[in-house]
Amino acid sequence: MVVRAMAAGARPPLALLLPLLLTFSSSPASAAADTIAANSSLADGQTLVSAGGVFELGFFTPGTSTARFLGIWYMGVAPQTVVWVANREAPITTGTTASLGINATGFLVLADPTGQVFWSSAPSNVSGAGAPVAQLLESGNFVLRGGGGAVLWQSFDYPSDTLLPGMKLGWDLTTGLDRRLTTWRSAGDPSPGDYTFGIDIRGVPEGFIRAKNRTAPVYRNGPWNGLQFSGEPEMEPNNSNFRFEFVANATDVYYTFLVDGGGAGGVVSRFVLNQSSVQRYVSPPGGQGWSLYWSLPRDLCDDYALCGAYGVCDTSGGLPACACVHGFTPASPRDWALRDSSAGCARSTQLNCTGDGFLRLTGVKLPDTTNATEDAAITVDQCRQRCLANCSCLAYAASSIKGGDSGCIIWSSQLIDIRHFSNGGEDLYVRLAASDLPSNGDGSRKKNILVAVFVSIAALLLFVFGGFFVWTRFFRNRGTTFQNAQRFNSFDSSVPLTPVPERSKENESGENKDLNVTLFDMGAIALSTDNFATWTKLGEGGFGAVYKGELDGGQTVAVKRLSKYSTQGLDEFKNEVMLIAKLQHVNLVRLLGCCIHGEERILVYEYMENKSLDKFIFDKSRSAQLNWFKRFDIILGIARGLLYLHQDSRYKVIHRDLKAGNILLDKDMNPKISDFGVARIFAGDDTDSHTRKVVGTYGYMSPEYAMDGVFSVKSDVFSFGVLVLEIVSGRKNRGMYSGGGEQTSLLSHAWKLWREGNALELLDEAVAGAGTHRGSEVLRCVQVALLCVQERPDDRPHMAAVFLALGNPGAVLPQPRLPGFCSDRGSTSTDGEWSSTCTVNDVTVTIVEGR
Ligand SMILES: *[C@@H]1O[C@H](CO)[C@@H](O)[C@H](O)[C@H]1NC(C)=O
Ligand SMILES: *[C@@H]1O[C@H](CO)[C@@H](O)[C@H](O)[C@H]1NC(C)=O
Ligand SMILES: *[C@@H]1O[C@H](CO)[C@@H](O)[C@H](O)[C@H]1NC(C)=O
Ligand SMILES: *[C@@H]1O[C@H](CO)[C@@H](O)[C@H](O)[C@H]1NC(C)=O
Ligand SMILES: *[C@@H]1O[C@H](CO)[C@@H](O)[C@H](O)[C@H]1NC(C)=O
Ligand SMILES: *[C@@H]1O[C@H](CO)[C@@H](O)[C@H](O)[C@H]1NC(C)=O
Ligand SMILES: *[C@@H]1O[C@H](CO)[C@@H](O)[C@H](O)[C@H]1NC(C)=O
Ligand SMILES: *[C@@H]1O[C@H](CO)[C@@H](O)[C@H](O)[C@H]1NC(C)=O
Repeated sequence: MVVRAMAAGARPPLALLLPLLLTFSSSPASAAADTIAANSSLADGQTLVSAGGVFELGFFTPGTSTARFLGIWYMGVAPQTVVWVANREAPITTGTTASLGINATGFLVLADPTGQVFWSSAPSNVSGAGAPVAQLLESGNFVLRGGGGAVLWQSFDYPSDTLLPGMKLGWDLTTGLDRRLTTWRSAGDPSPGDYTFGIDIRGVPEGFIRAKNRTAPVYRNGPWNGLQFSGEPEMEPNNSNFRFEFVANATDVYYTFLVDGGGAGGVVSRFVLNQSSVQRYVSPPGGQGWSLYWSLPRDLCDDYALCGAYGVCDTSGGLPACACVHGFTPASPRDWALRDSSAGCARSTQLNCTGDGFLRLTGVKLPDTTNATEDAAITVDQCRQRCLANCSCLAYAASSIKGGDSGCIIWSSQLIDIRHFSNGGEDLYVRLAASDLPSNGDGSRKKNILVAVFVSIAALLLFVFGGFFVWTRFFRNRGTTFQNAQRFNSFDSSVPLTPVPERSKENESGENKDLNVTLFDMGAIALSTDNFATWTKLGEGGFGAVYKGELDGGQTVAVKRLSKYSTQGLDEFKNEVMLIAKLQHVNLVRLLGCCIHGEERILVYEYMENKSLDKFIFDKSRSAQLNWFKRFDIILGIARGLLYLHQDSRYKVIHRDLKAGNILLDKDMNPKISDFGVARIFAGDDTDSHTRKVVGTYGYMSPEYAMDGVFSVKSDVFSFGVLVLEIVSGRKNRGMYSGGGEQTSLLSHAWKLWREGNALELLDEAVAGAGTHRGSEVLRCVQVALLCVQERPDDRPHMAAVFLALGNPGAVLPQPRLPGFCSDRGSTSTDGEWSSTCTVNDVTVTIVEGR
């Protein structure tokens, strides 16, 4: 995912499209056959082809491997998409030729002439009379039948990493057969990898992705609720393309799906366990290739038990964040504050079996049901009674939401792995002591506020984007997309999980309902800044000067007096301000209000104690205050803020003047982006075309913006790349267009060091000296930064991919190409410090093509 998204840059989802070309492999004479009879065999070079020509079975060599494997793949699809492999654990090495046959006892056997067996079908207790026959069916199933037609063995019962339509994932309880997916070790090695995906039948059945080296699961998709898995509300029950089925009875527990009009000429879809994620790929009729339909886990909140017991994970604030269920407090407040929420939450008031009540959480993924019990035959009311009557019952929920809530799931051990969805999800009733129930009077109020500690998690925000973007694109016209399918926006308002914070005092006076931001009086602003006295001036930005002011209530604010270039009228200005005020994120400086007075346009922001980032990183006397960890945190924070600006579904905002001076630091040195949205006031609303006026700062501007005035989110990505290099190195990217003839830059220096394999030398001495940095993190930052400053906007990754790559130590990144501004500039240097430049000659080698 990461690799692809980064490599393609422009559009991560499209990057997942596999080129699909029709190639007809030179078919041996026997190719038309779809069966092997008892005395015949299939040699390397020959293949079986299913009746309609959809699947082909034969020998293949995966990726870079040299060994041969027997497998099934989509016929005529390139690159070869293998859906099943027989001899996963026993590759046929070069120099050996094996063939597949049916031996005298009725087994499918893959062996070489000396009798070495690479693979054989599992024994079957049905002893078929008569000669068995093996046939490759149109569904992709390879079936061995006895003389009487009884199925002795079928490949669908022994999945590799792919689930095809009609295949069952789960259990045959009569035979004890557990069909689960196991990853390939790598693209070139089909031997069983580290991850499996299967149905756990303890308690109420659920699907789990598990990793070999880990006892805790990686991901859990939740119990089936009659329509979908509780953790996958996006599975539409009446999707016009798929039908999903889940069976759980005395003999079978399995999940399967069917594709309407599937097979030849219809939609083709496969479901594959690809390392730690399950992915559904589709290929529309007559389509050009595979596209990723969805992929799970979708974000950090899908990480199993991220928030611990009684913790709820929520991404609606833009970031994955843990909160305790109302009535619970962090079990380990110290760790919790440090964003380690694995210890979960503890009950504030112990249950008193008789006087307890229930708290309803809406729109959630039900907690782990491994230890839960289900009774589908009773109503939800009866379920409540049953839970109340049993002191060990801790929570209950309906077991089916199909045609109204019915049935009963009861939990009597801790509630683990709950997440909140902004769309979809179910109701969960959690048992609480009467005094903790929210409907109670003021007595419990204070506690409730304490309880709702909202801590954001500084880690990677996983890809909702890729999968869901494709989903909405691909099926935009076919029913509900996520945006319109708003079933719930938040938790039930009567039982808020997080009490809404009280509005700050100064916002209450003079509040303008229309604007939703405070309209300040010019007199008050002038007074607070001593009439814009020089000594209150904090700095000068691209859009005007900033002053420090103090409001009536004593709150310190930053007052930005916009320079008078703005062409906007009053209403437009108000609109913009309203939009900016709606952008709220921990990594954005908050806009408190504005002031309009004649020609004067003023924005009032929260004040940041530690001023701007450039005051630290470029100042030799202060740069040591930012050690590597802090710097890395700052980089992640900026990425997060920028990602929010770019991806927030309602308003896509391009910053256009991202630079160290626009990154402010609060008292804890958390980075906050300032001046976002202001560019729109100056340049109008046209979001990805030409701008009348180039606003921005030389040195941070992408080539296409500086030269042609063309901007897009990729221009911000470029500026971000420059910023990261500056944070790492503690040096300014000297303005290459400053007119001084100065042609070298931090970019070319970084590029040179990177190509020589010395990128660590880029690290600020003040940081390197301390010796606390992690080299791999530094290198990752440099690589990501270089990817961001690539010349062609399309080569640059999106912020989603950037954020993923930064936060994910395992990410495999493509090699960056030459940075913008490097290739066609002269090479005279007046700056002794950076004596290298990029020349055309430098560029010819070692650049791996991103796909
Ligand atoms: C696994 O995911 C990677 C990256 O997303 C993709 O390139 C690859 O094709 C996927 N593998 C399969 C078998 O679909
Ligand atoms: C397979 O070979 C055996 C022994 O040579 C023979 O008896 C049998 O009829 C053959 N079966 C078929 C289907 O040709
Ligand atoms: C057929 O193959 C199976 C599995 O390898 C083996 O157990 C059995 O002995 C073989 N039968 C004969 C007659 O070789
Ligand atoms: C789904 O389709 C079935 C049968 O076509 C219908 O009975 C049911 O009401 C539909 N459900 C929804 C949620 O549209
Ligand atoms: C369980 O469901 C499967 C599929 O619907 C069905 O074939 C089987 O007979 C059922 N078993 C029982 C005991 O109902
Ligand atoms: C449980 O709560 C009820 C009602 O609030 C109260 O009468 C009873 O004393 C409590 N019992 C215990 C053991 O706290
Ligand atoms: C289920 O119960 C077992 C045994 O008491 C316990 O170890 C495990 O953590 C429980 N699982 C969950 C999800 O509560
Ligand atoms: C109460 O629930 C526990 C756990 O589900 C169960 O073992 C026990 O039998 C139940 N007690 C009663 C009286 O139903």
